Amino acid sequence: MRRRFLKSLGALAALPPLEATLGPLAARVRADGATDSPFARFAPIEPTDRDALVLPDGFVHDVVLKWGDPFTADGRAFGYNNDWIGVFPRDGADDLVLVVNHEYVSLAYGGDAALYPQTFEMLRGRRPEVDDQKRDVGCSVVRVRRDGDGRWTAVIGDPLNRRIDAFTPMRADGPAAGLLGGGAVEGTFDNCGGQVTPWGTALTCEENFDQRVPAQVDAQGRFATGGVFNLPGGHYGWVVEFDPFDPGSVPVKHTALGRFRHENVGLRVSPGRQVVCYMGDDRLGGHVWKFVSNFSYRPGDPANRHLLSAGRLFAARFGADGRGEWIPLDMRTELDPNPDPKDPKPFIPRGARRLRDCYASPGAMLLDAYQAANAIGASPSGRPEDLEVHPADGSVFISFTAAPGRSGPWQNPFGEVWRIVEKGGDPLASRFRWERFCVGARRGERAGAPFAQPDNLAIDARGDLWLTTDLSSDVIHVHPDYVPLGNSGLFRLGVLGARRGAVEQFASLPSEAEPTGPAFAPGEQALFLSVQHPGERWGTRRRAEDSPKGSNWPHGTPGAPPQPAMVAIRRS
Ligand code: FEO
Ligand code: CA
Ligand code: CA
Ligand code: CA
Repeated sequence: MRRRFLKSLGALAALPPLEATLGPLAARVRADGATDSPFARFAPIEPTDRDALVLPDGFVHDVVLKWGDPFTADGRAFGYNNDWIGVFPRDGADDLVLVVNHEYVSLAYGGDAALYPQTFEMLRGRRPEVDDQKRDVGCSVVRVRRDGDGRWTAVIGDPLNRRIDAFTPMRADGPAAGLLGGGAVEGTFDNCGGQVTPWGTALTCEENFDQRVPAQVDAQGRFATGGVFNLPGGHYGWVVEFDPFDPGSVPVKHTALGRFRHENVGLRVSPGRQVVCYMGDDRLGGHVWKFVSNFSYRPGDPANRHLLSAGRLFAARFGADGRGEWIPLDMRTELDPNPDPKDPKPFIPRGARRLRDCYASPGAMLLDAYQAANAIGASPSGRPEDLEVHPADGSVFISFTAAPGRSGPWQNPFGEVWRIVEKGGDPLASRFRWERFCVGARRGERAGAPFAQPDNLAIDARGDLWLTTDLSSDVIHVHPDYVPLGNSGLFRLGVLGARRGAVEQFASLPSEAEPTGPAFAPGEQALFLSVQHPGERWGTRRRAEDSPKGSNWPHGTPGAPPQPAMVAIRRS
């Protein structure tokens, strides 16, 4: 049995700070960072519970598309609960193609409001059916332009505009494709985070698929059809790749990256090198993952679209002393099951020694990647949300949103941002170092920063992080620790030099909404942001005096249905 976590974190003091190993590279960002960016300086805002997108003085936002807005040539509408936004320049900095995820539809929340059915009926005059849900998830591809006044608008009916949803034909590749009925699969949903690849495609990640279809698989890689969506469970929980510039292209599910609740993909890519993907499995006790492609990236090579089709997958084991290792999810890997019964394992036959004794094939193991990782001693962690690779030095930032009720280093109920650095800076290394980069805390608490439940991350031209917070709708305005934090927000978190660890609030979201998918336009002329699930707890606000319960965003008038929307934030 290998060494496990120490409860004490005192051992960390034995290692020098990670920053020391990153100095020269960090200096490069400081030198190149665009200080003339509209976002380089702002006067931070205070937390608020206003039902509005509140921004620093001098900033405004355009609602580019909201749920239900028709935008494709055949009249398809923008989906629900917009999330990750991928920015693809089409023609200069003012003419872009955006890929926007639609994570899920908001059904009954704690019994207080069933926001999606409520507002669907207000807008369309009938109750939604399951097929409506299936059409309101997936991804939107939309061309956007900045006009002479600086406003960002969608190009309605543009030939590139496309809806991908739970019906769109797709295919699967990689070791588990054969177990997915020959590789033809129907649609995608629970699309949470994603990534823009250097070869011009979008990666969209299937996260809480278990809410819609059965999650369980057996040792042979067999799974059931069912759930609300009545679809085969094994077809979901993957990373999906597609070309936003080819509206007829068939999206591909890459089974080599494993099946779990994929939050997003942090990419580390250099010409002539293998591609490395860093990924989180967002659930209590989910793992941090790394994928290394078999083949190398060559700029301009059409074969880049197959880079994620074959490679090796690893799960992280975090040591208490600030060191860590990557354990291969490989049929030859020795079993070392996590002892906590809360961490589910596959059936381990008597006398089994390696993963190959538990699974009939590598495909079956990849379908059951979460449980397989618990069988080889990977660390069940504190709900890893976004992972992003810092462009200056290749270090990897992780938002751990928190792991309530669990022991170990993820106990902080407000969540933490960690940073990991591969041994020798080599993304192919089997060992790494980790540190707590910034810890969330109550407002005014000296030992931490005033944020809670860190979630999506973006990195600006100066090397700083932009961090969204996802406060649970049942603590906002209710729990005494959270009242001072107001609504969920968008924060800048300093990374380099004297700014390291400085936290400034840039935006406060409408009531019960979550900011998702922050993404800068080229030259930081805008920050695109998804406003997800306004009013998710209390639904439509009927009277102004009901504040702060419920929402009418973006309309602002009592009685108006709250609608998720994608906005462009810019200087006024
Ligand atoms: Fe879709 Fe883990 O957030
Ligand atoms: Ca998230
Ligand atoms: Ca979250
Ligand atoms: Ca969300």
